[in-house]
Amino acid sequence: MTAQDELRPTLTTEAGAPVADNQNTETAGIGGPALIQDQLLFEKLAHFNRERIPERVVHARGAGAYGTFTVTADVTPYTRATFLGEIGKQTETFLRFSTVAGNLGSADAVRDPRGFALKFYTEDGNYDLVGNNTPVFFIKDAIKFPDFIHTQKRDPYTGSQEADNVWDFWGLSPESTHQVTWLFGDRGIPATLRHTNGYGSHTYQWQNEAGEYFWVKYHFKTDQGIKNLTSEEAAVLAGTDPDSHQRDLRESIERGDFPSWTVQVQIMPAADAATYRFNPFDLTKVWPHADYPPIEIGKLELNRNPENVFAEVEQSIFSPSHFVPGIGPSPDKMLQGRLFAYADAHRYRVGINADHLPVNRPHATEARTNSRDGYLYDGRHGKAKNYEPNSFGGPVQTSRPLWSSVPVTGATGTHEAPSHSEDSDFVQAGNLYRLYSEDEKARLIANLAGFIAKVSADRDDIVERAIDNFRQADADYGQRLEAAVRELRKQQ
Ligand code: HEM
Repeated sequence: MTAQDELRPTLTTEAGAPVADNQNTETAGIGGPALIQDQLLFEKLAHFNRERIPERVVHARGAGAYGTFTVTADVTPYTRATFLGEIGKQTETFLRFSTVAGNLGSADAVRDPRGFALKFYTEDGNYDLVGNNTPVFFIKDAIKFPDFIHTQKRDPYTGSQEADNVWDFWGLSPESTHQVTWLFGDRGIPATLRHTNGYGSHTYQWQNEAGEYFWVKYHFKTDQGIKNLTSEEAAVLAGTDPDSHQRDLRESIERGDFPSWTVQVQIMPAADAATYRFNPFDLTKVWPHADYPPIEIGKLELNRNPENVFAEVEQSIFSPSHFVPGIGPSPDKMLQGRLFAYADAHRYRVGINADHLPVNRPHATEARTNSRDGYLYDGRHGKAKNYEPNSFGGPVQTSRPLWSSVPVTGATGTHEAPSHSEDSDFVQAGNLYRLYSEDEKARLIANLAGFIAKVSADRDDIVERAIDNFRQADADYGQRLEAAVRELRKQQ
């Protein structure tokens, strides 16, 4: 034993007893079978067998970092959220980026939206904004989400993602045309997580001190500039360096090159919503900036790496239902479904006490509830009473709702989302296509055609339906895509 070894602490069992031999199992005689009294062996093997928790059913692959949000504009006319209450005010944050479809061990450099899940540790509790790097989404009703994701994940028979399923679903879901036009364009594969924007995507409600409310959309514009990979570059990188994005993020923070985003919001007065040309609660649509110009409200900087990826990234939980006073949901049918889905996923994936893990619990206040116990309860409430009302001085309600109530009309029913004067599934997809440069259009067509051409040879109907959506968005778009797909399928 060296002098340095003598300074090292003693290895112990989980119960803290010193370990005498961590290299050799105890056996009955030299070369004999293992003894049941070697509890260290069993403890190690049993713990190892239980190291994994279920991966996220979507967005399994991700990387996270802590940071700081700083307010740069007075938004008190629009929201009474305390963390937004004063220019210069800072709030600790935790941001987890992710891909959507791949499993936990999949490669970073793939064509997929990037999750942009941001937790603000505010003094009024944690506010989670669980968005993506795209302002829109593939569908507009939560009831379609499990079906949609099934087409992105592995086919029950082949065990792989199948072009047949992807294009069958998209072809039969024309509302996806806008998001697909975005995803197969240049921004579909960010060069790094630092070089992409984030969006709240949904419309949310802000409520001010006077009780007036507004509809808002969040934008996080990367200060590093947008940088993307081509399909060809990504294919090489995904194979040679599958962890490229998570390592880039960690290393940039390690060297003090803190990535940042300029935070903007679009604000719509509540009275505009009923007559706006697009349904403002339709997640497949943007609000064109000419209608509601984005205004800058803050800066987000990432400046601290998690020390333990499992504890702080894998076990981190974000829920669109985590609001704070002055911020609330909109009637967006996707968002409404998400308000249920996430906390339910967390209870299954991380457990009923997930909210109390260090990364998830409030950092600028404390949780005071009467809920107790369950797996891995740490006794944090001590001897405090666990019911309400009580006359022992326990926590009490404020009687002030976090957000404003919204008027509704009509009968219950499985209604389609309302359609406004300029709504169609194709109008904004066509506008986006026409915005692309000629080069970008060419890459978009090549990216789409390469994937559509993989549909089974005897399923031309799937191909035709898929192309028809793009044709309806823009005649030139459809025509070029059809020609490119026909050419590729001829060669197969
Ligand atoms: C109704 C539609 C949706 C449902 C039911 C849904 C459901 C889920 C579920 C169950 C998870 C895994 C949560 C966990 O295990 O911790 C998840 C993760 C995630 N979803 Fe959704 N999702 C929907 C739509 C969306 C949309 C529209 C966005 C973005 C605009 C989005 C962004 C994310 C992100 C960023 C994560 C990863 C969160 C993290 O980093 O832990 N999802 N989603």
